[in-house]
Parts: sequence; C-alpha cells; structure tokens
Amino acid sequence: MELQLSTKHLLGIKYISKEDIDLIFETADNFKEVINRPIKKVPSLRDVTIANLFFENSTRTRISFELAEKRLSADTVNFSASASSVKKGETLLDTVNNILSMKVDMVVIRHPAPGAPTFLANHIDANIINAGDGTHEHPTQALLDAFSIREHFGSFKGIKVAIIGDILHSRVALSNIFCLKKLGAEVTVCGPPTLIPKHIESLGVAVSYNVRETLEWCDVANVLRIQLERQEIKYFPSLREYSQYFGINRELLNSLKSEVVIMHPGPINRGVELTSDVADSDQSIILEQVENGVAVRMAVLYLLAAPRA
Ligand code: CP
Repeated sequence: MELQLSTKHLLGIKYISKEDIDLIFETADNFKEVINRPIKKVPSLRDVTIANLFFENSTRTRISFELAEKRLSADTVNFSASASSVKKGETLLDTVNNILSMKVDMVVIRHPAPGAPTFLANHIDANIINAGDGTHEHPTQALLDAFSIREHFGSFKGIKVAIIGDILHSRVALSNIFCLKKLGAEVTVCGPPTLIPKHIESLGVAVSYNVRETLEWCDVANVLRIQLERQEIKYFPSLREYSQYFGINRELLNSLKSEVVIMHPGPINRGVELTSDVADSDQSIILEQVENGVAVRMAVLYLLAAPRA
C-alpha cells in the first residue's frame, strides 16, 4: 500500500481515492490507540504550524481539529470570523495571505461558501483541509462516520446505510455518499421529496420517502439535522409534522424486525429528527463518532504534512 495520499489537500471525498481512504483509516487505527494511552501526545507534527479558520459556527469539528493538532504536537492558531477583520470587509484571500505570511504550513477552513477551500488551494501554497464548505462537502465528517461504521461492522461488504433527513442542504450527506460508495456500501437517502436533490440517483444511491421502510432495510441510519439556517423558503409545513413523518423515536425502532445502529453528525435537534431515548440509547454510536473524529483528523493532518515524493 502507498504510504502517501494522492493529493496535497483534502477538499472533498470526491477528489480522493479508495486507497487514500484505506490509508487514512489504517493511520487512524494507530492514532486511536495513541489517544487512549495515558500519554496521548506524539511529536509527529512538531514545528508544523496549523491555522484553524472558522467562518461558520462549529463545536465538534473545531475542537476535534484543535485536539488532533495538539496531540500531534503542532503549533496552532485559531481564527473565528466573527471576531476578526472580516467584519471590517477584509477578503478571504487577504485574510489567509496575512495569516500565511506568519509562516503557517496548513490551513483548516470552514466557510459558508461552497468551493472556498478549493479557491484557497488554487491561490496559496499551504495544505488546505475542508472542514465544511456550505452545502458542498464535509470530508472529515464522512471519514469519521465511515471509520465508525467499519469499527462496528468490521467491513463495508453488504452493509446497508440509510442517510435520513435534510439531504438537500447537507454537506455531510454528499461527502458520506461519495465515501460509502467508494468503500462498497449500499446507500439509500430518505427524507421529504422537497429535501432530496433531483437526480441524486446518479450518485449510485436509492431514494426513499418512507422512514419505516428505510429503517427495515438498513443496518445503519445516519440521521441528519434539518438545516433551517440554510432554508430561505419552507420545505415542509412545520417541524412538528416533519418529526411525525420523518423523526425516529423509540416506538418506531422497537417495532422493526432487527436492530439498526443510529448515527448523527451533530448538532442534534432533539425531538425533531431523533428523540432523546434514541439519541442516548445503546443503539446510538453518536459519541463514538465524536471520539473517532480526533483519530481520523490526526490521520488526515499527519498524512497531508508528510513530504511529497
Ligand atoms: N458535525 C459537525 O460538523 O458539527 P459542528 O458544526 O459542531 O462542527
């Protein structure tokens, strides 16, 4: 197996190969062992400086990248757009070039505009890692989701994954589809017709508008949040109605023929897409996903920082 990724940046799962994903997982296996030791730190990225640029809110991704960087002994700087000169009108490129002139090697960026990480990769020298760009991709989320499925089931052969919820506005859905299809899983997307993009079948997924049938079919349900902040028009009558037809509750899960593993990238709208007695149950691996996020991000940072042949 190659010990180097095929790419200098992680802009999306679409742009990396199955071999890249396998290498990230094997590296993450080692880092997961490291972060469960009493001494969780390794010197791998000593003297590497990483800027975390967050132009959109985040809890999990920001903290997870920061912890991954610290566990690898990198130097880190954190930038939050709301407390920066972006508020005075500074452009993305000016912001990043100013930060890079302070000798930054890698940039982790979350931005509301799809393509912002690609734009940066085309204009600056540092390694760019997409931490979520608008409704486009969230590659490290898909990697940690797939890593968690692999940990639970051992492989992707014959594994049926349902992605349920607001598919239309979800970068997590798109990255998950690319990732799971490259790994050989079967994928169905499920949600109200208004929240399923037209022609999504062309990505090799099935479409369902019936949550019960979808849950009867799948081994794993990755349940997504309704992204009200990206919805300028009404896509369904009310959250109450959405929850009635597409929400997952204990009664529904108990009525299925077999047990489904429940995932969610967070943040959860409790009582909308998942009830608490599902989100906090033994069927849920939501907090394992978060734990795996640190090991997977350590693997991505470590592999991208390696000198390229
Ligand atoms: N899953 C995810 O991206 O969560 P945050 O928005 O909190 O980073």
